[in-house]
Amino acid sequence: MITGASSGIGLAAARLLAGDGYNVIAASRSIDRLKDLRKEAADRNLAIRTVELDINSDAAVDEEMPKLLLDVRRIDVLVNNAGYGLRGPLHSVSTDEIRAQFETNVFAPLRLTKAVLPGMLESGKGTVINVGSVLGRIGMPLNGAYAASKFALEGMSESMRMELWPLGVRVAIVEPGLFRTGFLQNQVEAARAGSGSLPHRGKGKPARSRYGERRDYGALAGDPARVARVIRKIIRSRRPAFRHVVGADARLAVAAKRVMPERLYMFFLSRAALR
Ligand SMILES: NC(=O)c1ccc[n+]([C@@H]2O[C@H](COP(=O)([O-])OP(=O)(O)OC[C@H]3O[C@@H](n4cnc5c(N)ncnc54)[C@H](OP(=O)(O)O)[C@@H]3O)[C@@H](O)[C@H]2O)c1
Repeated sequence: MITGASSGIGLAAARLLAGDGYNVIAASRSIDRLKDLRKEAADRNLAIRTVELDINSDAAVDEEMPKLLLDVRRIDVLVNNAGYGLRGPLHSVSTDEIRAQFETNVFAPLRLTKAVLPGMLESGKGTVINVGSVLGRIGMPLNGAYAASKFALEGMSESMRMELWPLGVRVAIVEPGLFRTGFLQNQVEAARAGSGSLPHRGKGKPARSRYGERRDYGALAGDPARVARVIRKIIRSRRPAFRHVVGADARLAVAAKRVMPERLYMFFLSRAALR
C-alpha cells in the first residue's frame, strides 16, 4: 500500500512494483487523481487497486482501513510516501500551518502504520517504509517546518525500527534529495512568509527575492523512478538497512554535515539557501 500515489515518487513506486507483479494498493485523497493510473493498470493488466483515503483524518482512516483490510486480508508493505513542503522562515509560520504539516508528514504515517500493524504482527512479518527527506538530516533556512516534520519522522521511524524488528516487522526510511515530482509545485508558502523580519544573506540584503520563486527544478533533480527502485530494494531485501539516502545532492549534504566544522557548514548552507 502506497500513500500519495497520484504523483511523483508514489506514482513511480506504484508503477514499478505493479510492473514487477506486486499487488499494489494506490491511495490518494482523491480517487479522481488516480484515474490515469487506473487506466494504465487496466491497459497493462497490472494489479493496482486504487483507494480514496484522507490520511489526515483519524475518523476516515478508522472507517476505511478496516473495510479495506477485510477485503485484502493483510497489507504486507506500507509505503508512507504522502507529504508536502511548507516554506517560509520558521518565525513567520503559524502554529496552524505547522500543525497541518505535522498532520500529513508525521501523524499520518503513524496513523497508517497503526492501522496495518495488527495484521503484520499476526503474520509475524511486514515492512513499513517511510519516505523522509534529506531535510530530516539537515535543517535548512526557509524550510524549518518541513525539516522539523521530517526530523520527527526520522526519530519516530528509528524508534519503531527497534521496537518492531524483534516482532518481524522491518522499518526503513528513505531520504531523497531533490527529485522531479509535483513537490515544488505543491509546496505551500506560509501565509506570512514574506512579511515581518526576514532572514538576511549578510551585508543587509534580505532574502525576500527567494519567496515565490524556485518552482523549477535544477539540473541536479533526479528521476523519481530512482527512489522507487530504492523502495523496491528495501522490499526485496531480507535484512534491509534502516536509512537510505537517495541522490548525489542528498549524499553530499549528509557527508558535508558529518565532516565539516559545524560553523563552516552552516555558513555555506545559509549562503546557498538565502543567496
Ligand atoms: N521530490 C522531492 O524532491 C522530495 C525530496 C525529499 C523528500 N520528498 C518526499 O517524498 C514524498 C513524495 O513527494 P513527491 O516528491 O512525490 O511530491 P508530489 O508529487 O507532490 O507527491 C506528494 C503526494 O503526497 C500527497 N500529499 C500532498 N499533500 C498532502 C496533504 N496535505 N495531505 C495528504 N497527502 C498529501 C499527494 O497525494 P494525493 O494528492 O494523491 O493524496 C501527492 O501525491 C513526500 O513525503 C516528500 O516530502 C520529496
